[in-house]
Amino acid sequence: MGNEDRRGFPYRAHPTGWFQLGWSADFPDGEARPLTYFSRELVAYRGESGTVRVFDAFCPHFGAHLGHGGCVEGDDIICPFHAWRFDGDGHNVDVPYSQRRRTANRLRAWPLAEHDGIVFVWHDASGAAPQWDPPEVLGGEIVYPGDTVRNRLRMYPQMMVENAADLAHLKYVHRARLVPELVSFETDGHRWRNRAHYPTGGFLTNELYGVAIARSVFRDVFDGMVGGLVFTAVTPIDHEYSNYFVSDWALRAADAETPTDPEALPAAVKRYYAAQRTQAEPDWRVWEHMRWRVRPSTTPEETEVFRSLREWATQFYPDVPNQGDRRAATD
Ligand code: FES
Ligand SMILES: [Fe+2]
Repeated sequence: MGNEDRRGFPYRAHPTGWFQLGWSADFPDGEARPLTYFSRELVAYRGESGTVRVFDAFCPHFGAHLGHGGCVEGDDIICPFHAWRFDGDGHNVDVPYSQRRRTANRLRAWPLAEHDGIVFVWHDASGAAPQWDPPEVLGGEIVYPGDTVRNRLRMYPQMMVENAADLAHLKYVHRARLVPELVSFETDGHRWRNRAHYPTGGFLTNELYGVAIARSVFRDVFDGMVGGLVFTAVTPIDHEYSNYFVSDWALRAADAETPTDPEALPAAVKRYYAAQRTQAEPDWRVWEHMRWRVRPSTTPEETEVFRSLREWATQFYPDVPNQGDRRAATD
């Protein structure tokens, strides 16, 4: 089957970059959680110091999964099988029943970052350290309390970031009344961005941070709202499924009140959050069933922007893409 899978996606390796591991609330103090990402079993917990940690899940002793019954004490995690203890860097620091009180074993620790309510993990197939800073989330924007959507979907992360560059689908998938017109696009190292104007004068900017995170900001588009910030992330579970996370924030004027109770949000903001929840689903249906085109048959409006995005995206994959799907437009 070469390195092309049956869904037509040309890469076999998980991409490199920062990914959303979850929201801060997914990691309560002192509880070990099992996670599966990048085709690996992981354990995550928030220790006493408040920092979230993620390790490879299986104990070096007899292989118990630390996320199923592992106990968090301070910043350490204790294996549920024979109580070997690992510190916040993953070092084995205690073997309570043995004369040999510790071993040289170390759990593989994954680089993490947390800000604006989002926990990020760095993945690099070769195990290299982070090569750039974690993505900006709020970036100084003044916002109302936000809203979230999550799902487990049969998709590749890159399908989501390509959506950010695809202005035509806003009309046909999302039934948008107002469709913005592309003004500019550019690549900037690990970032790719575009900017579009609405016929009514509002505008939209999308910024991609690698192939799994898109940050979109729009202003002056909907009546009664300053604008919105949509932070979307897709994290691969394995080579078939991914977790999809959306964080929505309505932008707020600096002098507007900030309700802490979500029920007290302005009516336009509540309507916006409700609409956003229904907007995700039509994308999911397309992504879960599509066959990826290595060589899409693009219109003149799409050709340059998609060529730019696809070329930029190659830097995040450690493997060479399979270019074999030459019948792309006809099969
Ligand atoms: S398997 Fe973890 S302590 Fe024995
Ligand atoms: Fe979409």
